[in-house]
Amino acid sequence: MYRKLGYAVVATSRSITPANDERTLTVAGDIADPATAERVIVAAIDRFGGVDTLVNNAGIFVAKPFTDYTADDYAAATGVNLTGFFRITQLAVEHMLTHGGGHIVNVTTSLVDNADSNVPSVLASLTKGGVQSATKSLAIEYAKRGIRVNAVSPGTINTTMHDEDSHPVLAALQPVGRMGEVSDIVDAVIYLETAPFVTGEILHVDGGVSAGH
Ligand SMILES: NC(=O)c1ccc[n+]([C@@H]2O[C@H](COP(=O)([O-])OP(=O)(O)OC[C@H]3O[C@@H](n4cnc5c(N)ncnc54)[C@H](OP(=O)(O)O)[C@@H]3O)[C@@H](O)[C@H]2O)c1
Repeated sequence: MYRKLGYAVVATSRSITPANDERTLTVAGDIADPATAERVIVAAIDRFGGVDTLVNNAGIFVAKPFTDYTADDYAAATGVNLTGFFRITQLAVEHMLTHGGGHIVNVTTSLVDNADSNVPSVLASLTKGGVQSATKSLAIEYAKRGIRVNAVSPGTINTTMHDEDSHPVLAALQPVGRMGEVSDIVDAVIYLETAPFVTGEILHVDGGVSAGH
């Protein structure tokens, strides 16, 4: 989507492969490792001259009853969702402060604001809730220095996160009675990218979950 807006893109994930596009650079790595964050930001500056926008999209979701969570679950969720957000955002903000500002978009979850007894998932609330609060905190900290910080809060979205077998149950979690599509999230990020007066916004894209049941 950012390529269509005219941006060069640096994309990262553990299993990402090289892109067939000279304006898209991929950096393979574990975002829970701060060294990956440093490699991504350095690559963006070296190859494309800077960082205008950072989208923190990598995330993991482990749903289980609170007392069933293991130490590995805790380490995995906090590693990707919190540590994976922290260092790369810090590096991006440092760069943006001296290069004319920028925009950060975080991807959280509707479960932060609307816990659901059908989906026990405190590690999602704990980690994405932290990112959601940090979205507002950073928006205020940098409001006068040209950096906007927003979030998209998705309901259940049709991605590889969910087995097809679970789709009927997941669809019923939304008042609209269906799951969202990746394009719904893309549209929300594009809106935030092109909305210069919007910062600190938690944009719910959740088929009505945030309105009630
Ligand atoms: N799908 C939903 O229903 C839903 C609902 C609410 C919020 N969200 C949020 O939306 C975002 C995208 O989720 P999704 O549905 O696209 O999930 P997904 O299909 O499971 O994909 C997760 C993405 O994150 C990357 N990733 C996972 N662990 C990583 C790590 N340690 N280091 C670097 N990259 C890592 C994965 O790539 P690799 O495996 O190659 O590393 C993959 O690209 C997440 O933040 C998720 O929490 C999703």
